[in-house]
Amino acid sequence: MSPSPVFQLEQVSCRFGTVTALTDCSLSILPGERVALIGPSGAGKSTLLSLLNGSQVPTLGRVVIMGQDVSRLNVRKRRRIQQLVGTVYQQHHLVGNLAVIHNVNAGQLGRWPLPKALWSLVWPQNVDAAAHALAQVGIADKLYARTDRLSGGQQQRVALARVLLQDPAAILADEPISSVDPERSRALMDLLRQLSETTGKTLVISLHEVEFAVKYCDRIIGLRQGQILFDAPAQAITKAMMTSLYQL
Ligand SMILES: Nc1ncnc2c1ncn2[C@@H]1O[C@H](COP(=O)(O)OP(=O)(O)OP(=O)(O)O)[C@@H](O)[C@H]1O
Ligand SMILES: [Mg+2]
Repeated sequence: MSPSPVFQLEQVSCRFGTVTALTDCSLSILPGERVALIGPSGAGKSTLLSLLNGSQVPTLGRVVIMGQDVSRLNVRKRRRIQQLVGTVYQQHHLVGNLAVIHNVNAGQLGRWPLPKALWSLVWPQNVDAAAHALAQVGIADKLYARTDRLSGGQQQRVALARVLLQDPAAILADEPISSVDPERSRALMDLLRQLSETTGKTLVISLHEVEFAVKYCDRIIGLRQGQILFDAPAQAITKAMMTSLYQL
C-alpha cells in the first residue's frame, strides 16, 4: 500500500480579488519527497506554498494537508496542522534585537502555555533543544548572539533552526537562496537535503535557480501563469520544458 500524501491539491484555484493566482492545480506530494517549485515571477509559487501551510484557503477546489481538508477545519485544528508544516520565508521573520535563542524558541511558542512563553523571554527555556537545533544548522556558537549582528546567511540558518525546533513533518521554503551567494546557497541546499535524508521530512522549495532545483530535488513542478505546466522527475527536465516555462 502506498503511503498517504502529505499534501493534496484537487483542482485548486486561488483568487485575490480580480487577480487569479492559481487555476485548476492538482498535485499530490508523498512523505519524504523533495519537490522544487519553479517558474517566472508572478507564476503562483508563493501562493501555492501558502496553501500548503494552510495560511491561505483555496477559492475553488480542495487542499488536503495530512489527510485534513483545510477548508473544513476550525481555527484550533488549522493551527495544529500548521504546527506540522514549518515554513522558512525569504525575509526570515526574525526579531533582530533579541538573542538567537529567543528567535529559535519562537518555533515553540504556539505550544507553550502563556506563562512559560512570557517567562522564556526573561529566562530562556529549552536551552538544550535550541542549542541542538543550532548545531544541526552549523552555528552552535551563536546561541546568545544578538540576531541582527549575524550575517544574512547565519540569520537564514537561525530561521531554519526555529523551524527544526518546531519539528514539523514537512518544511516549506520560499526562495531560500535568492539573496545569498553561490557558496552559501550550496551550503543551505546541502543542509536541507541532509535534513530530509536523515529525518525523512518532506521538502517543498520555491526556487528561481533551476540548476539548484534539478541538483537538489527529486521532482520539479513548473508553474506558469497560475497553472502547472509540468510536474516531472528532476532527471526528466529538458531544455525545451525550460524554454516554454520561461518564454516571454
Ligand atoms: N495577497 C495578495 N493579494 C493580491 N494579489 C496577490 C496576493 N498574493 C499574490 N498575488 C498575485 O498572485 C499572483 C501570483 O503571485 P505569487 O506571489 O504567488 O507569485 P510567485 O510565483 O511567488 O512570484 P515571485 O517569483 O515573484 O515570488 C501575482 O499576480 C500576484 O500579484
Ligand atoms: Mg514568490
